[in-house]
Amino acid sequence: MTNVLNRRAFLGTTGAFVAGNLMASPLAREALSKGNKIKAVLVGTGVRGTSFWGKTLVDNFSDILEFVGLCDINPGRLEYAAKYMGVSCPLFASFEEMINQTRPDLVIVTTKDSTHHEFIVKGLDMGCDVLTEKPLTTDEDKCQSILDAERRSKRKVIVGFNYRWGPYMTKIKELLQSGSIGRITSVDFHWYLNTYHGASYFRRWHGLRQSGGTLWVHKATHHFDLLNWWLDSDPEEVFAYGDLEYYGSNGPFRGDKCRTCDHKQECKFYWDITKDKRSMDLYVNHEEHDGYIRDNCLFRPEINIYDKMSAQIKYRDNTLVNYSLTTYSPYEGWKIAFNGTEGRIDAWLDIPFMKGDNISQSEMHELEMSQQDASLQTEPVILHKLWSDFKVEQVSFPKGGHGGGDKLLHDQIFRTPGKKDPFDRPAGVRDGAMSILIGIAARKSIEAGHPIRISELTDLEPRARRI
Ligand SMILES: NC(=O)c1ccc[n+]([C@@H]2O[C@H](COP(=O)([O-])OP(=O)(O)OC[C@H]3O[C@@H](n4cnc5c(N)ncnc54)[C@H](O)[C@@H]3O)[C@@H](O)[C@H]2O)c1
Repeated sequence: MTNVLNRRAFLGTTGAFVAGNLMASPLAREALSKGNKIKAVLVGTGVRGTSFWGKTLVDNFSDILEFVGLCDINPGRLEYAAKYMGVSCPLFASFEEMINQTRPDLVIVTTKDSTHHEFIVKGLDMGCDVLTEKPLTTDEDKCQSILDAERRSKRKVIVGFNYRWGPYMTKIKELLQSGSIGRITSVDFHWYLNTYHGASYFRRWHGLRQSGGTLWVHKATHHFDLLNWWLDSDPEEVFAYGDLEYYGSNGPFRGDKCRTCDHKQECKFYWDITKDKRSMDLYVNHEEHDGYIRDNCLFRPEINIYDKMSAQIKYRDNTLVNYSLTTYSPYEGWKIAFNGTEGRIDAWLDIPFMKGDNISQSEMHELEMSQQDASLQTEPVILHKLWSDFKVEQVSFPKGGHGGGDKLLHDQIFRTPGKKDPFDRPAGVRDGAMSILIGIAARKSIEAGHPIRISELTDLEPRARRI
């Protein structure tokens, strides 16, 4: 705490703590302006790295970007990654060796969450811009080390917050930004993960707080980033409750992993990974190197994250937010309502009984993760001004690629880096930090039994207006 205050005082006097952030890769911009390709390396060749930040970039951006190195601790997965992505660049076990040999413009970090800081800090210190998957990191000390590293380097951190870019999310931002409901005073935000997607977090490293920081950080970072961006204010204080009472040691039985389990018949969560070629290629075929079991039992006793979570967040501009996250809902979806001095906005996605359809929940998860399905869906946002009738704003957006956000995020980072966005969607280190700090504060609040102030965690001082 003393360190945080001292550092803040120091930054205040030196003026090093500048508002705003270019939130782009200056090196990528420079390469493009000289007619060169962006030289990129990727660390963490798992499912997200090889697909969204791997093959998708190779397929759509090879005219302006080339991979010059890939790195992972699992040599089998690393070799598979190069084949899957269709690249012939050198492969590395050592991150430093990769940077020294390839001198990239951009480091893309897609390792497990608790290791992001290592590669962000080293990447910046070794002279590269860094694009990291969410969450920025998993605790406040690692967060501070990233903030410090960006300040001392001339390089930038980009956080791949794809949800902001979905046209449905952007419509909400547009309505709020235009002042349609006056000053926002309070928000109800509830997110429901189903027994496919929610359960999947408990099968692997995400189920351990030391790896993913709990779903308060790993998953809710998306939701807290949306809130910070929609409200355009910083969080100031968080009070939370949470518990683990469905997965982990709460299960009625358990096995070693689905493949060898004695309870295949009676377990509703039984998953035959051998029928999923991509998971076999990525994980099962390389288990011998690191013991990474992708179809782990979600009732194993070492699971130590929360499966139900609820928080109150007070923003610096005095907006009050009620937030909850559940992980074993029969359907996957979310609802939000903004109350303002001049009206209210209601929005929701994927609530089956509100849509009147009955899509299979497992298919729905596949669809959301798919980059292929470009077919459009249209969903309403309700704008209800005080003393007048409500208005339905219909928003059309692609079904796949996180509601169309994935593609727009890629285009902004690689085709038009640095271009000003009317909705302020590009995200930098401060956005990454503010979103995880809510989850970290929530974790601490549960342990301490009292509210936690965001300003206690790092030297970032919450602002009434973000920028
Ligand atoms: N934005 C989104 O919608 C979204 C979706 C999925 C995943 N993600 C994020 O992407 C990241 C990767 O997730 P994933 O699902 O691909 O996980 P994964 O387990 O499939 O892949 C992680 C990879 O990192 C490697 N790794 C772990 N520690 C390492 C280290 N110290 N050095 C080098 N390599 C290391 C592992 O061997 C593995 O190949 C996570 O941070 C996750 O939060 C984001």
